[in-house]
Amino acid sequence: MQNQYCNPLKFNCKILANEKFLEFCKSKYMNIMNYKSFLHTEFIELLESKGIIPSHIESFYSPEKFIMGIHKDDADSGDDITKINFIWGGIGSLMHWYDIKDSSVPVYSSKTDIGTVVNFYPDENYTLVSSLPVHSPSLVQVGKFHNITNPNEKRLCISVVIRDKQGNAITMNQALQIFSEYLI
Ligand SMILES: [Fe+2]
Repeated sequence: MQNQYCNPLKFNCKILANEKFLEFCKSKYMNIMNYKSFLHTEFIELLESKGIIPSHIESFYSPEKFIMGIHKDDADSGDDITKINFIWGGIGSLMHWYDIKDSSVPVYSSKTDIGTVVNFYPDENYTLVSSLPVHSPSLVQVGKFHNITNPNEKRLCISVVIRDKQGNAITMNQALQIFSEYLI
């Protein structure tokens, strides 16, 4: 059942340019990488055939018993932003999405290495609206407030940050149309 939060995909092509990159991604919690060197040309061509140019690749490597802070990605790109996530390990992990009562005053803001602003708010501001396991790969909604809980084992997530040819973020409804033949 398609939804606004997380939708599984299946691609019949090579995804990574080199499997050894996965070890590099485990070197710290977050890495930001150039998609042209990280992704296999087969996958880049598939994305380009759909009018998609990734802006970059992000990796997140979390330990077991990890609870991520609730946040929305890229505060400047609206509240409906889709990424493609690939996951290794992290059995039993869930992604959670929340409504927020008041988003006027963040507790703190942080900037990623490429200048993306991520805002964090007090926990009591949030109401849980959905929790789902994330199949690998999946379209995932990162424009709504979300986090990951990872109870059992280490989890590596590679996020392909997708954009249209003008550099605009892709909404979930747009992504569902663009990738309709790969939905499972
Ligand atoms: Fe996120």
